[in-house]
Amino acid sequence: MNSTIDGFLWGASTSPHQTEGNNTNSDWWVREHRAVGMERSGDACDSYHRYAEDMRLLADAGLNSYRFGIEWARVEPAEGHISRAELAHYRRMIDTALGLGLAPVVTLHHFTHPRWFAEDGGWTHERAIDRFASYVRAVTTILDGVEWVCTLNEPNMLALMVTMSHAARTGDTKKWISPTVDGDARPVLPDPDPAIGRRLAEAHHVARNVLRQHTEASIGWTVACQALTATPGAEARLEELRYVREDLYLEAAREDDFIGVQSYSSQEVDHDGVIPHPHHPDNTLTGNAYRPDALGIAVRHAWKVTGNTPVLVTENGIATADDARRIAYTSEALHHLFKTIDEGIDVRGYLHWSALDNFEWGHWEPTFGLIAVDQESYERHPKPSLKWLGEVARRGWL
Ligand code: BGC
Repeated sequence: MNSTIDGFLWGASTSPHQTEGNNTNSDWWVREHRAVGMERSGDACDSYHRYAEDMRLLADAGLNSYRFGIEWARVEPAEGHISRAELAHYRRMIDTALGLGLAPVVTLHHFTHPRWFAEDGGWTHERAIDRFASYVRAVTTILDGVEWVCTLNEPNMLALMVTMSHAARTGDTKKWISPTVDGDARPVLPDPDPAIGRRLAEAHHVARNVLRQHTEASIGWTVACQALTATPGAEARLEELRYVREDLYLEAAREDDFIGVQSYSSQEVDHDGVIPHPHHPDNTLTGNAYRPDALGIAVRHAWKVTGNTPVLVTENGIATADDARRIAYTSEALHHLFKTIDEGIDVRGYLHWSALDNFEWGHWEPTFGLIAVDQESYERHPKPSLKWLGEVARRGWL
């Protein structure tokens, strides 16, 4: 079982808000300071200043790529005002990655928005797509040498967040509910509104055109692939539910250069909907069932629904404080990924979530990192899993 495929990307992923620190001009920063029951990102991992050290650790371990994001709230702090200094900062990140032999996989939007955008209607504003496109146009000026660009991260989760914040404003829900950490509240999470999903798909297509006009990069978006399966008799319900949660977004990737598959666990669907992860001692720190086989299910489904769009695994990992478990989970997930390659699926790479223990959207406890970060000194402590994944990457097989 191996993936000694030429150019196969072996890497790790992060996002700006979860690692940079002090993303004060973003809507999430505002939310963290207002919501009840939410921890704050604060200085995060201080990667805004320490990115070179993060990248060097990945490269030294043997990885050949790094997925990171550009923060819209920094690049365009007020509508129409593009910060050249911030663009130069992200260009330095790209140059640093390239200099270390890490192929940069650059995400343009990862859940957060500039405050001005969010406060003026967000994605529901009539000019939302133009606003996003004009930010993307500004970013194209620094993308020389970048071969992989993701427009929007997990648009299906983003649509869910937009649906939830709309519900909070209209009084349908009161308390903030974590989008990524399962709790007893999970059964009441709504489905993402498909109208918002279609709007995001349009934004993705417009951004893709802008990027294709001005860069040579392969363009895609990254979808939260939930590896949903039906209990006996619930196949029709599965189809229906999977469409609004996932397939709408996969179908929108049919003309993309790649589909970013993000997989953590798998869940069953019955007549009443998605069955919450049953309580179990093996559950991860985000409350998910321990299901490394989900990656194979997710890749096969994405390949089918996108009509054979090449797959890049842009996130896969486990929230655990036990690094040996991280290695066991990842090893099994890779085994399932390699099976899909043997079946003929065009898989271009595997990027682990996450490079660092970082801010898990309102929580610090669920740690996904290959590298631990001291929350006071910001010192980096690589874990055995980083060494292990780097060795797998150098060999190209398990
Ligand atoms: C997101 C990440 C998040 C991860 C683990 C994905 O939903 O893209 O930002 O940290 O999953 O929950």
